[in-house]
Amino acid sequence: MTPSLSDLETLARSAGEIVRSGFEPRPGYGRRLTIEHKGDIDLVTDIDRQSERYLITEINRRFPGHGIYAEESGNNSNGQSSVWYIDPLDGTINFAHGVPIFAVSIGYEEDGELQLAAVYDPMRDECFTAQKGQGALMNGEPIHVSKQDVLLNSLLVTGFPYDVRTNPDNNFDNHARLMMSSQGVRRLGSAALDLCYVASGRFDGFWELQIEPYDVAAGILIARESGALVTASTGKPLQMGKAMSILAANPQIHAQILAKINQNIKE
Ligand code: IPD
Ligand code: CA
Ligand code: CA
Repeated sequence: MTPSLSDLETLARSAGEIVRSGFEPRPGYGRRLTIEHKGDIDLVTDIDRQSERYLITEINRRFPGHGIYAEESGNNSNGQSSVWYIDPLDGTINFAHGVPIFAVSIGYEEDGELQLAAVYDPMRDECFTAQKGQGALMNGEPIHVSKQDVLLNSLLVTGFPYDVRTNPDNNFDNHARLMMSSQGVRRLGSAALDLCYVASGRFDGFWELQIEPYDVAAGILIARESGALVTASTGKPLQMGKAMSILAANPQIHAQILAKINQNIKE
């Protein structure tokens, strides 16, 4: 059984509704989120888990035998040709602090090629979708990367690893260098939305040195289908895997960011 783009959009919107209804815009008032620490600054809430449970149950019911690589349950995709990449709540630190910037991210791959993607921002009701070879959409309307070709006029976004306190590859030097060479470097806290904002021309480029497949699978396809060049942060072809790096931007800005960021990073 092969899913359709509307299957992914329906799943992302339904999980987004679970996330939106669990959101506390005034933390400390009303229902208390259950927050656990996976690391010093790596959190998981009961809403991450509810959203993931919903998605895995639905995918197993409707697409039995497919592999699933989900943030909270891990990689159960040994050898399957059909694989789902799920981040049930991308932007957990924002969510836990009452900051309304987060998304549900679902990517679908067949024989190692990303085919379908949906990233849903439930606070803005923005659903970014893509099908391989068919372009990228936001709420059903086509989107495209920016035409900006001057780095100094560009708005960029990046992220930092959860082991930022101990990892020498903490991205601070790149961040500082690109702050001096652009109109600004944002840190939204949701890599899935970072990629969709590149896809829709809001940002001109995004990079991160250490990111997981479930964070970015859907966003990679959406960005590529919108005209972005997406590679490892060395400029080499992207290899989907644990702790991979990523650089996504319109092709002109991609080359200019590449010239500024470290070459001695993991792929
Ligand atoms: C994180 C966000 C963040 C990125 C981190 C991710 P999470 O995902 O996408 O922007 O910088 O690398 O781990 O933990 O909120 O799902
Ligand atoms: Ca994530
Ligand atoms: Ca997550």
